Amino acid sequence: MQPEEVDAARDAALAAIAAASDLEDLKRVRTEHAGDRSPLALANREIGALPPQARKEAGQRVGQARGAVNQALAARQEVLEAEHEERILVEETVDVTLPTDRRPAGARHPITTGSELIADIFVAMGWEVAEGPVIEAEWLNFDALNLGADHPARTMQDTFWTAPEGSGVVLRTHTSPVQARTMLTRTPPIYVVCPGRVFRTDEYDATHSPMFHQVEGLAIDEGISMAHLKGTLDHFATQLFGEGITTRFRPSYFPFTEPSAEVDLRCFVCKGVDAASCRTCRGEGWIEWGGCGVVNPRVLTACGVDPERYTGFAFGMGIDRTLMFRHGLSDLRALFEGDIRFTTAFGSEL
Ligand code: PHE
Repeated sequence: MQPEEVDAARDAALAAIAAASDLEDLKRVRTEHAGDRSPLALANREIGALPPQARKEAGQRVGQARGAVNQALAARQEVLEAEHEERILVEETVDVTLPTDRRPAGARHPITTGSELIADIFVAMGWEVAEGPVIEAEWLNFDALNLGADHPARTMQDTFWTAPEGSGVVLRTHTSPVQARTMLTRTPPIYVVCPGRVFRTDEYDATHSPMFHQVEGLAIDEGISMAHLKGTLDHFATQLFGEGITTRFRPSYFPFTEPSAEVDLRCFVCKGVDAASCRTCRGEGWIEWGGCGVVNPRVLTACGVDPERYTGFAFGMGIDRTLMFRHGLSDLRALFEGDIRFTTAFGSEL
């Protein structure tokens, strides 16, 4: 190989190395220009056949050329490797702070949001939210509310008693013991609303559940009358169900109120106008909602409130039932089965 050819082969190799754009490309260039069959390797092999004088010169030239090519290869390899590494770092970056939508988001339960909505309506009127335990003293669940041991009305509320027999402890059958608790621990004026869980030995079906929710209201002040009760419940109904939806009272009996009434809600579907064909109220124009009345003076006395000075009203209704109306549910159980599709549909609204 002529000296110019050796130089040309070296230059071609150096140019190809400089032009190699990635490691794959460089690998190909290495085989082509520095591999066993590359021009410079062939030239190296020819050297042995040359006369001694020429051999030295050619050996030097070819050796230098191959050295330069190998050096350039190593340098380019390093550069391309670094680039490759850097690209991987960028391309394969994982941002652990990015939001993911792989798992469906849950929602707050409609009973939770519904209870809060109800409480908010009363808080807006200056009332407070009160709470009590679900495992309750028999005395507070019954006796303090004028429901003595022999009172026939005790059987109206099918009670879960805790073992052993005669423990005096029940799962509260209504939220009314919170009335007693509040009066025992505070002095009037009292305006409290108490949403909470209650228990009765009912079968579990489309309209009954052994565990359900009530909201209790209690107002104790000077000069409180049935008229205040009616106005308060009308406002409550309108806030929940819209303009024109008020309440009516039917005479009833509860040991803890006197007089007592059943509260009906104006049918929010037909509004009492087309009641005959209404499937929601079944021709009534009204829907049963809860119980209420003027607090029995015997209850005030039992709970340390002076009945000569103070009077009060109380009411209680089912939250689950109220939500069934509001959302047009025909089966109460939908509220308790925990289906995420139900919760997302009804839990966030209100
Ligand atoms: N506690 C009664 C019930 O569960 C409802 C009620 C509450 C009635 C307050 C009157 C006053 O049936």
